[in-house]
Amino acid sequence: MTVRRPLIAGNWKMHNTLADARQLVSALLEGIDRVKGVDVLICPSFTNLFPMAKSIAGTRIMMGAQNVHEAEKGAFTGEISAAMIKDTGCTHVIVGHSERRHVFGETSDRLGKKVRAVVDAGLIAIYCVGETLDDRDSGRTYDIVDRQLGDVLGEGVDPERVVVAYEPVWAIGTGVNATPEQAQEVHEFIRGRLGDIYDPKTASATRILYGGSVKPANAAGLLSEADIDGALVGGACLVAEDFLAIISAAAARVVA
Ligand code: PGA
Repeated sequence: MTVRRPLIAGNWKMHNTLADARQLVSALLEGIDRVKGVDVLICPSFTNLFPMAKSIAGTRIMMGAQNVHEAEKGAFTGEISAAMIKDTGCTHVIVGHSERRHVFGETSDRLGKKVRAVVDAGLIAIYCVGETLDDRDSGRTYDIVDRQLGDVLGEGVDPERVVVAYEPVWAIGTGVNATPEQAQEVHEFIRGRLGDIYDPKTASATRILYGGSVKPANAAGLLSEADIDGALVGGACLVAEDFLAIISAAAARVVA
């Protein structure tokens, strides 16, 4: 059986000035060594990447960006390439977060290019998928997730450089998380689809994170499910104590 090391990723979104960021990271570093066996990632805003790289240097906290432009370089005012992100010391990039899809109108076609740009730069893409409430209510959850996976992953995308995040849109920032059973069902489906797109061995080695109102109070339940290999945390990652509690819940999963 493949052992998947849990990954807890914090998506800071458009929060934290440099002073806030420094404070948050120093509080995280105070508690992080008490927890073993879990990969920990922070995803600050672009402007905080270089200073945060300094703050976490020599520690086990890894860093990711929240977005990327798909082109290698060019006349794209205000955009950031994968190579530029790599320069900062990032190892990961979140691609296809529902806010990028729904607020900024990013399409599957574009997200496919972004995932390829990330992977080709030697970084790991955290590729987000998930249905809206409408999709779920009308029984289209699996169709949507299936399409989001099939449109973007596959040929030309090294699966070793991909982490999938299942983030039901109705659970993001709402305080209403998917139940562990609801999440597990979709995670199992995603793993099956990864098996079709790649192969079963690859699917069983790929980490699938859950995201959407993960909090200290629900993390252990979610992380105890067989196919939930970690979490992509928004709101709760801005409070060091809460983020550390979620990391501890993931560590408890390892020894269980
Ligand atoms: P949330 O956000 O934890 O605040 O629901 C999750 C995300 O958007 O990745």
